[in-house]
Amino acid sequence: MSQNAAALRARARDLDAADPLAAYAMRFAPGEGADGAALVSYLDGNSLGRPVETVPDALAAFARHEWGGRLIRGWDEGWLALPQSLGDRIGAACLGAASGQTVVADSTSVLIFKLLRAAIAAQSDSARDELVILRDEFPTDRFIVERIAADHGLTVRWVDAPLEAGIMPELAAEAVSDRTIAALFSGVAYRSAWWADMPAITRIVQAAGALVIWDCSHAVGSVPMQFDEWGVDMAVGCSYKYLNGGPGAPAWSYVAARHHAALRNPIAGWIGAASPFAMTSGFEAAPGIRALASGTPPVLAMVPLAEMVSLIERAGIDAIRAKSIALTEYAIELVDALIPAASLSSPRDAARRGGHLTIEHPKSAIAVERLWAEGVIPDFRHPSGVRIGLSPLSTTFAEVERGIRALATALS
Ligand SMILES: Cc1ncc(COP(=O)(O)O)c(C=O)c1O
Repeated sequence: MSQNAAALRARARDLDAADPLAAYAMRFAPGEGADGAALVSYLDGNSLGRPVETVPDALAAFARHEWGGRLIRGWDEGWLALPQSLGDRIGAACLGAASGQTVVADSTSVLIFKLLRAAIAAQSDSARDELVILRDEFPTDRFIVERIAADHGLTVRWVDAPLEAGIMPELAAEAVSDRTIAALFSGVAYRSAWWADMPAITRIVQAAGALVIWDCSHAVGSVPMQFDEWGVDMAVGCSYKYLNGGPGAPAWSYVAARHHAALRNPIAGWIGAASPFAMTSGFEAAPGIRALASGTPPVLAMVPLAEMVSLIERAGIDAIRAKSIALTEYAIELVDALIPAASLSSPRDAARRGGHLTIEHPKSAIAVERLWAEGVIPDFRHPSGVRIGLSPLSTTFAEVERGIRALATALS
């Protein structure tokens, strides 16, 4: 190992020793490496977070005592209210949202559909006919926008952003007009990790008379947000990344209280109705954010998510963000020193960067395949990106050093 590489490794030890959140890393499942050996480095916490170590017991206790013990009574004793009560906790811990505006339900894709349709319904007495989205937005967002536009005779206004960035105020200002119904943007871009200037862009979209919908799948639990203060209209995000809710965990959605009275859910199911058990002949929407719900809440799937929300509440999102910046800064230092042939397609400015990094290198695909076999788990992003997700509570600096050193070897 070169002197420089040895110094970088020593820095990992120092950084871990000085990390005020270091003890949290022990509170997650360690993962298995190749042939039952320990996992060397998990760099995919932004795709699927590790389970909190209490999850197996929490699930067993739920099955034994709540489901197994309380049976049908559980619905009245808290399960029916769980989408809102857990939503409120996510809102307070991560979104800067006062209670009554966040609900846990469905998947991100389904909630994006619901919010876009609700935005169209809210603007139905205008002549507006455009939906705005980035050309490089996450596929599910684009596909849903395109399908809704086709079904409703609307036009999609595509926005182009640089590879290493995402939506910016000047791009948003060019795209929105008196034709815009809604703009759907990512808070943190899935490829580059560009953290958009959410308050400025929200103001720009609203000044054009349109609604903004933020997809915060890569932002929630990683960067602090202030939806109420920023005047956000609507937002959505998944909970299996930095919220560690587990594979297929339900998503969450925020709708500002000022939109509740007019909120029209296109999937008018019984749980979104004012009195689900009155078995009424016609649909009357529930007051408040529950109007966005449709069917029976996925109570079991919220158990792991609640364990992680408890950890975030304890650690605090500002401390999590501080560690996230330190992790990505250190990772960039490693990439620059150990992989000179790679380029970064993520912002170097920490203030504009979320919790992950994408590194471009022509040998990315083959290197990632090899690394997975060795118990080093980054992500491959077509066509040439290695994406490294550094989940602040569960990732150590030593793990980042081991992972990027292995990546350097695999790429060489
Ligand atoms: C930005 C973004 N939106 C949406 C999704 C996916 O949503 P769903 O949970 O419906 O699969 C992802 C998944 O990685 C994502 O990164």
